[in-house]
Amino acid sequence: MKKNNSKTTNKVSIRALVKDTISSQDQKTVTVLSSLLSIEKKIQYIPDEAIEEIAEYCNVSINDVWSVASFYTNFRFTPPGEKILDICWGPTCHLLGSQKIIKSAIDQLGISEEGETTDKKFTVRYNTCLGACAQGPCVSINHKVIGFITPDKIKKLLLDLSNN
Ligand code: FES
Repeated sequence: MKKNNSKTTNKVSIRALVKDTISSQDQKTVTVLSSLLSIEKKIQYIPDEAIEEIAEYCNVSINDVWSVASFYTNFRFTPPGEKILDICWGPTCHLLGSQKIIKSAIDQLGISEEGETTDKKFTVRYNTCLGACAQGPCVSINHKVIGFITPDKIKKLLLDLSNN
């Protein structure tokens, strides 16, 4: 019973947060896409409540919002892990050994591909360019780029972060 109450409270607070985020966008024209981007920026994913609230705010159908949201692969629909590890596998980083970085990272985290760890501490994503090719191979942790990474360095970094 207590669990249901906290779930309801959480849903209410997510809905309130989403509503506030949509209505407080500071550009002149508020669109479905601008609303999705604002919510993704604010809470790092698009919950169901956001789809409903955007549809109401923009006076379009839920299907209209889904068609925009699902078109862009960068939107995620479940909460991310506590820390987001982006591993660049773009052309430059690929040539500089990103496949070894990926293997080292996912081995260390006990997963087999990008996604969340079972303890939800990490989300691993593959990125096509982190914009720091001169420092490749690169990763980023919560958008902070770390260049010249090696398989051993990423292992140590993830171990340190896991213990914090
Ligand atoms: S290709 Fe990796 S940072 Fe550009």
